[in-house]
Amino acid sequence: MPTILIIEDEARMRRLLELDLAEAGFETRAAPDAEAALDLLRKERVDLVLTDLKLPGMTGLEFLQAAKQIRAALPVVVMTAYGTIETAVEAMKAGAADYVLKPFSLAEIRMVVEKELDTGRLREENCALREALGQRYDYPNVAARSAKMQEVLALVERVAPTTSTILLGGESGVGKDLIARLIHQRSSRAAGPFIKINSTAIPENLLESELFGYEKGAFTGAATTKPGKFEMADKGTLFLDEIGDVPAPTQVKLLRVLQEREFERLGGTRTIKVDVRLIAATNRDLRAALEQGTFREDLYYRLNVVPIDIPPLREHKEDIPDLVTLFLARHAQQSSTDKPTRTVGGESAAADRTASGESATAGRTTRGEPGRTTKPLIGIAPEALRKLTDFHWPGNVRELENIIERACALAPGPVLEAADIHLDSVRPKAHDAEAPLLPEGKTLDQWEDDIIREAYRRANGNKSQAARLLGLSRNALRYRLEKIGIPDDPV
Ligand SMILES: Nc1ncnc2c1ncn2[C@@H]1O[C@H](COP(=O)(O)OP(=O)(O)OP(=O)(O)O)[C@@H](O)[C@H]1O
Ligand SMILES: [Mg+2]
Repeated sequence: MPTILIIEDEARMRRLLELDLAEAGFETRAAPDAEAALDLLRKERVDLVLTDLKLPGMTGLEFLQAAKQIRAALPVVVMTAYGTIETAVEAMKAGAADYVLKPFSLAEIRMVVEKELDTGRLREENCALREALGQRYDYPNVAARSAKMQEVLALVERVAPTTSTILLGGESGVGKDLIARLIHQRSSRAAGPFIKINSTAIPENLLESELFGYEKGAFTGAATTKPGKFEMADKGTLFLDEIGDVPAPTQVKLLRVLQEREFERLGGTRTIKVDVRLIAATNRDLRAALEQGTFREDLYYRLNVVPIDIPPLREHKEDIPDLVTLFLARHAQQSSTDKPTRTVGGESAAADRTASGESATAGRTTRGEPGRTTKPLIGIAPEALRKLTDFHWPGNVRELENIIERACALAPGPVLEAADIHLDSVRPKAHDAEAPLLPEGKTLDQWEDDIIREAYRRANGNKSQAARLLGLSRNALRYRLEKIGIPDDPV
């Protein structure tokens, strides 16, 4: 039975938490201040700490640091009042596992505690397992030599067989789609459907009917009954991409499906039960959306049962050579099916075959320069690889793939040279301690407002597009637009 240490100076609250967690089946220990708690930690085995941040004497934050010295892997969940969110963020930076905002419900506390214990257990088991077997995870189409990616794959392997909901996090282009599919393939549902839905790509008013389907006549234009993605994904996996963009009313419905695994079609009365494993993905910190109130906290905790964070490419550059090899094979192959004759410098052969109609895919040869012949791409020069590994990859693996594809199409020789590689993103300037950080006379807030206005202008007032330009969810953008006096248009 896991033991939970509760640190709370207010006696009534402390007692309440003790009783509730005991009822939920945990062993509990309690301390009125950090000093007593540290004493206890040194003597006893504790699996998780739940601590108030505002304590008499040593603060919760100081406690956190001291506790991490005693046991670095100990999960510490902090409790803090609504007005003091900055301290919660600070606590997360100092290594807190999660935070809950006061006032909270006991159900919320239980959920967070159980989630953290689960993740902790997974991590420990994984480490132990891998050490015992000296195991490395290896899939043919995934480059994951680095320790960071190995950790991701270990987690994938561990959670794939379960039905737990998974929240995939990571910047744009890091491989969230790839990992979602991998989880499906490695699960017992692999033979079932893998259905993907991207909430940013679908107009807000259509999202619900896409997810839940509709009955004939549910709204104008609903000429027939149509099942939604949830029904289509029965016995399989539903991948909900860009979850941060799901509008509030749909969030409520999602919460219900997650809790009860049932829903009704739009305009329908029959309750439909489904057996679906949900994987959600987001390319930003959903916590920011939580703080701004654009994403429901209860839904967040339901989704975040097993978080898997995929690191940005700049944090696992060791994988670049393998990625390049994969992409070279992928794109050289594509060009070879495009252009069946692969001779160096032999323009005529390919042109002849195309002209005589022998090539079934002749229509696609215009992807490169028309009439050009592809040469067998056999590799990449060391300087070219160095150029790739030196880059900071703001667009992550997707950007790397695009650049390799372009280089494959345009390189004159059989080996990619540094000159064939065109890195189009602007490199950040070398650190110049003298240069001003912000434009003349602006505060950070003013500058942010300018950028938001500019994005809104460039997107011609289209909020989804503006949000994409800014890497924000539609909801987060709406919040910021309102702040600078651009109101939300009525739907
Ligand atoms: N570790 C990897 N090994 C091999 N290919 C990878 C790896 N990571 C990403 N890719 C490839 O990079 C491309 C982009 O990845 P993917 O579409 O999964 O990213 P994403 O995180 O879903 O992006 P977005 O946030 O834009 O939706 C895909 O072609 C994918 O197969
Ligand atoms: Mg994606």
